[in-house]
Amino acid sequence: MNQAWWKEAVVYQIYPRSFMDGNGDGIGDIRGIIGRLDYLKTLGIDVIWLSPVYQSPNDDNGYDISDYQAIMKEFGTMEDFDEMLEEAHKRGIRIVMDLVVNHTSDEHRWFMESRKIKENSYRDYYIWREPREDGSAPNNWGACFGGSAWAYDENTGMYYLHLFSKKQPDLNWENPKVRDEIYDMMTWWCDKGIDGFRMDVISMISKTAEMPDGQAQEGSYGDFGPFCVHGPRVHEYLQEMNQKVLSKYDLMTVGETSGVTIDQAKRYAGEDSHELDMVFQFEHVESDGKFGKWTDEKVPLSFLKENLSKWQNELYGKAWNSLFWDNHDQPRAVSRFGDDSVKYRETSAKMLATLLHMMQGTPYIYQGEELGMTNFPFQSKEDFHDIESIHAYEDWVESGKVSLEEFWPCLINKSRDNARTPVQWDDSENAGFTTGIPWIRVNPNYETINAEAELKDENSVFHYYRKLISLRKKYPVIVYGKYDLQLEEDENIFAYTRTLDDEQIFVVCNYTESSCKVLIPSEFANGQCLISNYDRSRYEGEIELSPYEAFVLYRK
Ligand code: GLC
Ligand code: CA
Repeated sequence: MNQAWWKEAVVYQIYPRSFMDGNGDGIGDIRGIIGRLDYLKTLGIDVIWLSPVYQSPNDDNGYDISDYQAIMKEFGTMEDFDEMLEEAHKRGIRIVMDLVVNHTSDEHRWFMESRKIKENSYRDYYIWREPREDGSAPNNWGACFGGSAWAYDENTGMYYLHLFSKKQPDLNWENPKVRDEIYDMMTWWCDKGIDGFRMDVISMISKTAEMPDGQAQEGSYGDFGPFCVHGPRVHEYLQEMNQKVLSKYDLMTVGETSGVTIDQAKRYAGEDSHELDMVFQFEHVESDGKFGKWTDEKVPLSFLKENLSKWQNELYGKAWNSLFWDNHDQPRAVSRFGDDSVKYRETSAKMLATLLHMMQGTPYIYQGEELGMTNFPFQSKEDFHDIESIHAYEDWVESGKVSLEEFWPCLINKSRDNARTPVQWDDSENAGFTTGIPWIRVNPNYETINAEAELKDENSVFHYYRKLISLRKKYPVIVYGKYDLQLEEDENIFAYTRTLDDEQIFVVCNYTESSCKVLIPSEFANGQCLISNYDRSRYEGEIELSPYEAFVLYRK
């Protein structure tokens, strides 16, 4: 297997709006990030994935970009950006930018031109279609954030496609001029010295020429998936992008590829496919729930074992994957997969971290995860800011499809706003995130869960993450070793080995609150314990695991 720095790296995702406010206006910003670079250095991460900081009207918090070469005013200036990049580099931290090029904002200059008249030279930058005979949308596709995927535009009497919100019109990648504009823009950022791109919904950039109705359930919108996801020319475009831009720099590239299969992943991120370095796929966090993605059910261990093992085994030596429990679109890891009660929050957060960080792939830590931050106690609809949660409330509850009682637990369990509450820095007002009024409420548990307290406490979740990161640096077996699932049928324990030449690690995680027994294989009896979330002096013979216990044994 080829070695690469980005295979050995640990990534930390910053969602700037919620990370740190540097000027007291209640909104996180670039100066805030600069002030916390030393904290990230202490944690030991190698790369920051920076969610969008470009100019944007914030319909979808920056994922609707109106100028790719300007910084959002609320976040600061281009000078601030340059300083952040320089300060990060000084500390050996690289910065990977979010690249959102499936769509722009409807306030982007290209779209404002495009919608003016049919003859405009930017018309073909977007996807326009005539209405059906009765004036309705060209087909039945539904958008990711609810409603139709088509918006009618009075100016020219036609519809434009938007797979996300109405304010996020999809770019027409069929048009070579669009592609060239994007490559030029990417080149401009690379020349500035950035270190890579995280490519937003990159698997959706190619659409089929025919756009027939999608499969639909009674009374719902149709599924655009078969016509827009992993579309006919997506690999051609990425190879072109690679050849024209990516291959000229030393970058890390990661493609957000929801719904990707193993075979597709090998094309996107194969060792020799000349597209991207790695995929970021969602199978382990995306199983369908009660109401589409909305559910209050826990993810069963059997599913996780089967799914994570499949990706470990089938990409081994062939393609590279990302490892994550959460991001800015997912609920908090410990609330979702662990136990966020006072009793088990720390232990289960550490167990989850162990389970993931000892696997093969590039680990991603989402801001606050290293503190064991939890979901937010939402009380009412007014507590939500996220466009997806608000639309879901309207689509499911206000439409009368389901009762509020039924939907509420599912909504608060999965809402993206869980991840977007401010990082809890200390126990002062607003968790030290801002001296002003925070744009989104701080989780009230900041008085006990915060960075300052955890930095001081050697046994904190923070220091546990720090240790996991340092282990990855020290033991190549964690990066390059082969994965083998152990105790496949066990209902409580997730265990596996990693093997590289004569080195081996044995990872044991009790995924549950029950105590249970595990037999330490004799070859590990004299092994060294690299990390654990309980104090235990002997790892030998049959031992009884405590709730959420996790440890890693090493032998050579
Ligand atoms: C991706 C982003 C998400 C955004 C969407 C549309 O899934 O992660 O936050 O809303 O794309 O850009
Ligand atoms: Ca600010």
